[in-house]
Amino acid sequence: MAKPLRVVTAALLFLTAIAATGGRPVCAKEAAADTGITFETILEVEHTARLLAILLDSGRSVINENQDIFDEPGTSGKGLAPDVFERQLTDMFRSRSGVDLHNLNAGHVPGQAKKLMKELVAVSRHVVADVQSERNPSGKPGRFIPAIFGDRVAALFTERTGVRMKQTTLAPRNVANAPDSTERSALEFFADPSYPREKPIGETTAKSGIFRLMFPLYTTRRCLDCHGEPKGELDRTGYPKEGLKLGQNAGAISVIIPIAK
Ligand code: HEC
Repeated sequence: MAKPLRVVTAALLFLTAIAATGGRPVCAKEAAADTGITFETILEVEHTARLLAILLDSGRSVINENQDIFDEPGTSGKGLAPDVFERQLTDMFRSRSGVDLHNLNAGHVPGQAKKLMKELVAVSRHVVADVQSERNPSGKPGRFIPAIFGDRVAALFTERTGVRMKQTTLAPRNVANAPDSTERSALEFFADPSYPREKPIGETTAKSGIFRLMFPLYTTRRCLDCHGEPKGELDRTGYPKEGLKLGQNAGAISVIIPIAK
């Protein structure tokens, strides 16, 4: 495995803070004096980033499951009304995160997450509604696939909220998805089959005031149509397949959130 990542989850940051004071435990208030950021804040931001990553990935999965509708000749995605998409997204997100988007006050969801998740749902819905004005090239499958959905949603979401989201992998098809050094280190962890499933890697950079989360993605059966075997064979979008197997890590969603002090 390559160089160890500066993994700074809230818990580890706490340990770092303890070490820095010569073993004397520091409370959140004391830590705040150094960095301007409390542990509570970091825990909340981490929780928020994780929910956003699961929500974007849930949207990708809903697109994946409805791929046939987006591939139909003529206008793309006409058979998937935005309301139906949103219902499927809500169901998928609830089953994966345990959070009900229609009842956000029921669970322990940070206030920041509530606002951002509503915006992410609105943006996802907008992208799905918008694609219906696009026409598929005649005789060819549609261009609207999970990664394109993810790109469009992430771009619009960043424009509206300042929170950055990106789909990345070690050997990307699209250079725009190439990992930076932090993302690369996390992806190397995720690629190890013994790495715990769905365990994100978080990092706080107190100086620049940002929190980063890398959330691993895994292949479902339908991803394998394009990313599966045989390796090197061209998929229907014209890219060589990666030779991935069912359930294997397929990259990550990277989330970058400014920390409000
Ligand atoms: C119809 C074929 C197709 C399917 C199905 C598909 N992908 Fe992709 N995937 C692509 C293409 C094409 C790109 C590059 C898109 C672009 O140009 O940005 C891509 C990009 C990605 C990326 C971003 C990194 C990169 O290589 O640029 C990830 C991560 C990814 N796919 C994972 C998945 C996962 C996980 C699934 C299943 C949920 C999936 N894909 C389903 C074709 C597909």
